[in-house]
Amino acid sequence: MPEQTASELVVVANRLPVQRNGGQWETSPGGLVSALLPILQRERGVWVGWPGSGDAPEGAFEHDGFTNVPVELSASEIDDYYEGFSNSSLWPLYHDACQPPRFHRRWWHSYVAVNKRFAEAACSVASEGARILVQDYHLQLVPGMIRELRPDVRIGFFLHIPFPPTELFSQLPWRRQIVEGLLGADVVGFQTRRGAQNFMRLVTRFTDHRAQGSRVKVGTRAVQARAFPISIDTARFERLCADPAIIARSRDIRREAGEGRSIFLGVDRLDYTKGIDIRLRSLQELLSSGKRTIHDTVLIQVSVPSREFVTEYVELRSRVEELVGQINGQFGEVGSAPVHYLRRNLPIEELVAHYMAADVMLVTPLRDGMNLVAKEYVACRPDNTGVLVLSEFTGAANELDRAVLVNPHDIDGMAAAFAEAASMPRDEQSRRMRSMRSRVRRRTVYDWADEFVGALDEPRQKTLTGVLA
Ligand code: G6P
Repeated sequence: MPEQTASELVVVANRLPVQRNGGQWETSPGGLVSALLPILQRERGVWVGWPGSGDAPEGAFEHDGFTNVPVELSASEIDDYYEGFSNSSLWPLYHDACQPPRFHRRWWHSYVAVNKRFAEAACSVASEGARILVQDYHLQLVPGMIRELRPDVRIGFFLHIPFPPTELFSQLPWRRQIVEGLLGADVVGFQTRRGAQNFMRLVTRFTDHRAQGSRVKVGTRAVQARAFPISIDTARFERLCADPAIIARSRDIRREAGEGRSIFLGVDRLDYTKGIDIRLRSLQELLSSGKRTIHDTVLIQVSVPSREFVTEYVELRSRVEELVGQINGQFGEVGSAPVHYLRRNLPIEELVAHYMAADVMLVTPLRDGMNLVAKEYVACRPDNTGVLVLSEFTGAANELDRAVLVNPHDIDGMAAAFAEAASMPRDEQSRRMRSMRSRVRRRTVYDWADEFVGALDEPRQKTLTGVLA
């Protein structure tokens, strides 16, 4: 990397924020990327990450006003670091162990080696005193590794997924190393206060560092651990909702799904944490009870393919597709199916048209760090109609408490909630939606970025107050 591109702002994430579209690179859609883009562009920042495909340029490349620094992974590292330790050990463990986490020493060794590569790549492009923002569970050792190499820089770490309670985290054979790795940062950010509290308990239990309030004293440094709930680019969704072509498309979807039917919508990565199978069984229960029928109810389930080489994802897909077949076989009629199952990623315009067409949005994960689909649906209801059915076990439930909150494990409870949502009077829909819409307008992903980066900019002396006594 040429000397002049050493940057004062470096983002480190498992994936680069760009993807190939034909021969061209384009910026990936998504909240995190759009939140960090303005500050990356303003500060001529650098993003260090895995390009995720075999044909990335060898070295750093410019795109959209910032520099991408690719970190390559070998085939065995994709198996061991990405699919193994990140997505078969940490991912299930951090999501309430809703599938049993699997631990292998080979996976751990690969995780350490790949984290080291990311840390070195970040240090090689960071200028003196730079700010380095490390993202998510794939890279929890990176803050500690950067701290060793570059004591001059300021490091923020943000975990996008839940941080588990002590009883679960303690299963991890390398629990102390992970906690110490995170403590290399100046600021460790979580989606919820509960996550930050879980982390502080672990610090006390597995390290010798002194924790007080939201601060930990690590040698002469103070580390701040607190919640920074992430959000969406609300204005962008509101703009899309006003687009005549998207409004027309949402009417088409309504017509095609069957006028007069309540449209239920699910939009998730095809991931076992999302509770798609139990959601389908709840719908099956509802239709079996006769309280709703295919003449008044239809579900559109959009399932975005994800991590398709991990066994648990392959199994989930079979389970979901079998259930869709069962329900359609049991209740469907020629020309009318109760479930429309779309296994693909929708372009944002199409996604917004679906949000606008849906009477009831089903967001029922078994555990989720935040869940931005819930916030996107709310942002896409400019006339304050529509009902959000939301799992209690999402970060979003802390803010969107006027949703119909459900226990995503409770089939009967969810079936009852679906019926309640479908028949909720307009004025009640409107009261609830209005309040939730004002929440997603008040705090956007740009506020998240300002708060997180702002916490890193606090003078060091201030963050030491209270823990150096
Ligand atoms: C979650 C994680 C992200 C991850 C995304 C997609 O939202 O928090 O870090 O990028 O899932 O998963 P993938 O494995 O395809 O990157």
